[in-house]
Amino acid sequence: MLHLATPTDPHWAAAAVRAMDDLLLDHAHCEKKAASTALNLIFRYATRPAMMVPLARLAREELAHFEVVVEHIRRRGGEFRRLSPSPYAPALLQCVRPQEPLKLLDTLLCCALIEARSCERMQRLAAALRAGEDPALARLYESLLASEARHFDSYVDLARAEAIVDESSLRARLKELAEHEAAVLSAMPAEARMHSSAPQDTT
Ligand SMILES: [Fe+2]
Ligand SMILES: [Fe+2]
Repeated sequence: MLHLATPTDPHWAAAAVRAMDDLLLDHAHCEKKAASTALNLIFRYATRPAMMVPLARLAREELAHFEVVVEHIRRRGGEFRRLSPSPYAPALLQCVRPQEPLKLLDTLLCCALIEARSCERMQRLAAALRAGEDPALARLYESLLASEARHFDSYVDLARAEAIVDESSLRARLKELAEHEAAVLSAMPAEARMHSSAPQDTT
C-alpha cells in the first residue's frame, strides 16, 4: 500500500521502544522538518498554483503533529532540544535529478517515500508500545497513522496532478526511488531515530 521496497526489520521497534525518550525527540524533529519541507516547496514552486493549498495543509498538519509530540516529551518529564540532523533525508534526496521539471517530480516522490516510511515505523511503534507502560504513547502513534498514510498519497497526487511524466513513468520512478530509499535506510546507523537501521545484535 505504501510502495516501500523493503519492510522494517522487526528488531527496530523493540530497540526503539527501549530508548523511547530519544526516539520521541527525533520524532519531534521529523515533524518539524516535514512542516518546513512543505513550506519550502510553497516558496520554491510558487509558479505552480495547484500545489499551494495541499502543501499549506500538509505544513499545518505536520506542525500540529510537532506540537503533540513535544507535549508527550514534556509529559514524560523531558524537554525539546536540539539534535544533530539525521542523514536519512539528505541521502535519499541525493538521487533527485537536477533539471526541472524532473527535479520537482523526484522531490515530491522522495517526500512521499519519507511519509511512507514514517507511517510504517509508527505502525511498528504503536504495536510495540501497546503492551508497555505508557499506553498514551501507543495511542499517539495510532492517532498519527492515518494522516501520515494520507501524506504519502498527497505527495504522489501532487506529482500526478503536475503531469510532469505519464502515469507509467511516474510509477516506474516511484519504484526506483523506493529501492533507493530501502538502500539508504539500511546504511543508516542503528540508533533511536525514526529513520535508523535495526540493531544487528538484539541480545
Ligand atoms: Fe506528521
Ligand atoms: Fe507526514
